[in-house]
Amino acid sequence: MAERAHELKAAVREEDQDTLVAAAWLHDIGYAPEIGHTQFHPLDGARYLRDNGWPEVIVNLVAHHSGARFEAAERGLASELAEFPFEDSPLLDALVAADLTTGPAGQRFTYDERMDEILSRYSPDDPVHKTWTKARPVIGEAVARTQVRLGEV
Ligand SMILES: [Fe+2]
Repeated sequence: MAERAHELKAAVREEDQDTLVAAAWLHDIGYAPEIGHTQFHPLDGARYLRDNGWPEVIVNLVAHHSGARFEAAERGLASELAEFPFEDSPLLDALVAADLTTGPAGQRFTYDERMDEILSRYSPDDPVHKTWTKARPVIGEAVARTQVRLGEV
């Protein structure tokens, strides 16, 4: 996924490229059991990074990566996620695109392949499944904007 972020660097301003790569390395840190207090990894990861003095821009990107606001709503954690301001930016779009065009083993996926892969792993009543059913078109736009910025489409 960090490798994919390198490929997508041109979709953000030059001064933001290091931030994109750093956020790509850190985005799933909230899965670490020692810091996974709420079991909602974008929130746990962002709190951990904030408490350890990481720059606000990286903390906020981790908090909001890959449709976290949709899953927070599904899990009743929207007010907790609101500790971290949401900024709809090319940087967040590129982070999302890097995450959602990479498979769980680092393989290259299209956005639709990745969505189908996620939905196939969770039962329809799981919050993750419900989240992605709602978030898919919205997050798809973030991926598409990144592709336009790269001149891929
Ligand atoms: Fe994640």
